[in-house]
This record gives sequence, structure tokens and C-alpha cells, in this order.
Amino acid sequence: MDIENANCKAKLSECVHNIQLDDISIERPLKVDVQITGLERLLEELHRVFSKNHVNIQDVQKLMLSYKSDPKDWRKYAKYDRFRYTRNLVDAGNGAFNIMVLCWGPGHASAIHDHADSHCFMKLLSGNLDEVRYDWPENVQPEVVKKLKRKPTRRCCSESEDLTDDMRRMGAKCPNGNCNSNVTNDTDIRQNDGGQFDSCQNGNGDVDGSQNGGNIGKPNCEYTDGYDIESMKETGRTRLEVNDVCYINDALGLHRMENPSHVDGAVSLHLYCPPFDSCRVFDARTGKPTEVKVTFWSMYGKKIKRVMEANEIADSQQ
Ligand code: SIN
Repeated sequence: MDIENANCKAKLSECVHNIQLDDISIERPLKVDVQITGLERLLEELHRVFSKNHVNIQDVQKLMLSYKSDPKDWRKYAKYDRFRYTRNLVDAGNGAFNIMVLCWGPGHASAIHDHADSHCFMKLLSGNLDEVRYDWPENVQPEVVKKLKRKPTRRCCSESEDLTDDMRRMGAKCPNGNCNSNVTNDTDIRQNDGGQFDSCQNGNGDVDGSQNGGNIGKPNCEYTDGYDIESMKETGRTRLEVNDVCYINDALGLHRMENPSHVDGAVSLHLYCPPFDSCRVFDARTGKPTEVKVTFWSMYGKKIKRVMEANEIADSQQ
């Protein structure tokens, strides 16, 4: 099964029966024939697509590409803060997706983060943003990779050298080069996370992200036990121009966004499916993960002062 058929209504790791790691990337340029006029129209199209049981990743990417950014469509959601980027909810997608406008002041950036087993589509509406990608730190694995490793393995030279079929597809080689191809139901999972998804509750760890205004800000970890200095590897950097769309999920790695301008703001449109309200941020020096809650700076164009107020606004939209 290829990416055209991957269903982004489900969490990524729930699709492992249908996907292979090399199929998940959709980096190649997409052609878009239609043009969508207005953000309202884009939202209508997204609702239509997400009302089906199966949502094709490429269709979502194409829809987001076919909308041409016009500030009059999104100005009412574009609320900046002086100190950090803001997350402004535009549409809660009937529970199937969240779409939001993010506003980045000069030099603002997110921390290195994962996508909580969801799919992330991002379109640049104004300014420029750099997307910086990273490999997962060696001792932390995403759900999707853990699940892929649980899939039946082919018996390799010795038990300790078994490779899963997906690891083979990714180019992993049997060290002795003499594997046979008997498929077994071996469920020996070499989980490598060492159970270390701890959340920095010591050292003033801002676990719920509230001190960060609920965005994916820098983790506040002081403890680095078990995490190597320099363990985060940058794997790529892409400058996004207005109307560019990019896509990432946990199988493709981690990322952070930064506004490279010291003068101008930037605005981006993010679609997450399924929606999530917490994810992990990673200490750039050590790779240590911290679970953070993510919230909104404004919802449906209204600034939020407290979490209770956010719940009231959400209820009034139903
Ligand atoms: C990002 O992709 O860096 C933005 C993360 C967010 O949703 O806050």
C-alpha cells in the first residue's frame, strides 16, 4: 500500500498494518489543478473530506496547496504575543482534525517536538519559516516504530540478530549476510526507550506548558541522566515560502520551526489529525523528552485568558 491510500483519520501507529516506513514520506512536489478561493471554502472542503472514514494524506495536502493565502481570510485569527509564538484555533474539525493559525514574531521558534502519533500538515500564510528536522534520539522511539518492530520478523542468523521486515526495507542488513526468509511470529520487541519518557517534574519542569503560554516552547529540564550531550542530530533544513505546504509525522522524525527574520512576523496554518493536546519536546542538547500540554492563545478569533474560558468557548461552538 502506498501513501496515496494511507488513512490520516487514524493515529499513525494504528496504520502499521498498511504502511511501510519508506511509503510515509510525501516529499515529492504535488500538482494541484484546482484553486480554492477563501479560507472558509478550504474549511468546507476539509470537513467534506474528513466526513469520510478514510482520508487520503495526499488529498489533504493538495487541498491545503490549492488555497492561496489572503490575509483578509485569516487576519482575525492572527494574534501575536511579544515573547512567544501563539496557537490560535480556527476550526475543531468535528473532532477529526484541528486547524489553527500560528503567529511567529521575529526570531520566535518552537522547541524540537514530536507529533503525538498524529499527522501534521503545515502551510505558510505569510513571511518565512525554517523547518528544521531531527532524528529521534537513540533512546526514544515513536509509537509507530515500536509497532512496526512488533510485526512478524524473518528469522535471521541468530535470535539476537533478528531484523523485522520493515527494518530490512529500510536498508538494515543482517550482519552475517546469511538470513533465511522464514516468517515467524516472533514478538521479541527490542524496545529501546528504557522507560525514560519521564517528564522533568523536578528541576522546575514546566510539565503542562502553562508557563509557555501552552505552545511547544523550550523544555525546562535540568536533569540529563541517561541522555547524551549532542544526541539530537539535525537531518535537514527547509525554508518555507508563502503558500508552501509541508507534512510530517513521527515516522519521518522530529522537527522545530523558526522564524529566521529579526524584523518580520510569520503566519502559518497547521492541521493536525487526529487532534492532540499533549506531545513531547526534546532538549536540543541532550535529547531528553518532556511531555507538555498544548493549548490555544485564542479560539475562533477570541483571546483566551484561562483554561476554563477555553472550555466555555468550545462548548458554545457545539
Ligand atoms: C510547529 O510545528 O513547530 C508548531 C507546533 C505547534 O503546534 O505549536
